[in-house]
Amino acid sequence: MLIKITKPSDLGERDVTPESVYLSRRRFMGGLAGIGAGLALGGRAQAAAPDYADVPAGDPPDWLAPKLAEAEPRVVAPTDPELDKLTPFDDASNYNNFYEFGTGKSDPARRADRLETQPWSVVIDGEVDNGGRFALEDIVTPSRVEERIYRLRCVEAWSMVIPWLGISLKDVIERAKPTSKAKYVRFETLVRPEQMPGQDSSFALIDWPYVEGLRLDEAMHPLAILAVGMYGRELPNQNGAPFRLVVPWKYGFKSIKSIVRISLVEQPPVNSWQAIAPNEYGFYANVNPNVDHPRWSQATERRLPNSLFSPNIIDTRMFNGYEDEVGSLYAGMDLGKQY
Ligand code: MTE
Repeated sequence: MLIKITKPSDLGERDVTPESVYLSRRRFMGGLAGIGAGLALGGRAQAAAPDYADVPAGDPPDWLAPKLAEAEPRVVAPTDPELDKLTPFDDASNYNNFYEFGTGKSDPARRADRLETQPWSVVIDGEVDNGGRFALEDIVTPSRVEERIYRLRCVEAWSMVIPWLGISLKDVIERAKPTSKAKYVRFETLVRPEQMPGQDSSFALIDWPYVEGLRLDEAMHPLAILAVGMYGRELPNQNGAPFRLVVPWKYGFKSIKSIVRISLVEQPPVNSWQAIAPNEYGFYANVNPNVDHPRWSQATERRLPNSLFSPNIIDTRMFNGYEDEVGSLYAGMDLGKQY
């Protein structure tokens, strides 16, 4: 990711988004009406799905369309509907980090349409009894697609609130039947330089493929999902189509895009950003306002959309606000050292 601190010059035209493109607060709040207590995921609110009338229609493959349409309206709502209004689709799909298409925030939206996402297959291998190469539809179809509204907090100190459509990572891991040696999960993004121009650049920082990893218990946590859509439609290519990880309590770089390989392994994988700058980016990358990046504070974040006149800086929350759900995974760890 770009190594830079938010400054007024970072704010461009795209930061100024008309209020009209927000899902109206009324609609969002309406979706939250009637929420029950004590539901799954530690009592997070669940409600009817928001309405995405303003979102451009997608063109999902035949097998995915009915899965998306049947998505359970099990919105896991952010705790603060006032602060955590949905980010407009336009911002979420035009301000991206996807270095395979370039390092600029608008590069992915401009260039990712050339990525062919059908057919798509994923290798599941390593310490598993039921590995192999699987067509994406065979991975997704047996699972229930759920909608999850999650905060996304980038290590660069900007953030969004995105309604994902995805399946449980735990389901996929369990079907692979991990052996007793499996302790970590390693993920890899596609390498296809002819369609991913950032991989063709001699200035690329990353040694492709982009790699990420989770401890097995983190990967089995119910908040961890493999997304196939957002805003009621399939994923735009720039957001990691057709299949990406979403781990909302970690900095955004953990949420690896366009996954082609999932390996159960014994040793902690070295993720791409850790390989580039281990003193700046760790394996865990849990959102933590008390542990600063060596070159900037992580205490606050710039919630998109914002503008010069409305910088929209808010406090960053421990584990991105998901401490009740995931805090116990890290009991006894020194989060300043294991960052
Ligand atoms: N996955 C791949 N393969 N390549 C990337 O450059 N960037 C990461 C993550 N996943 C990245 C990636 C970073 S730094 C962030 S913040 C999120 O994707 C951004 O996701 P978004 O563009 O959908 O908001």
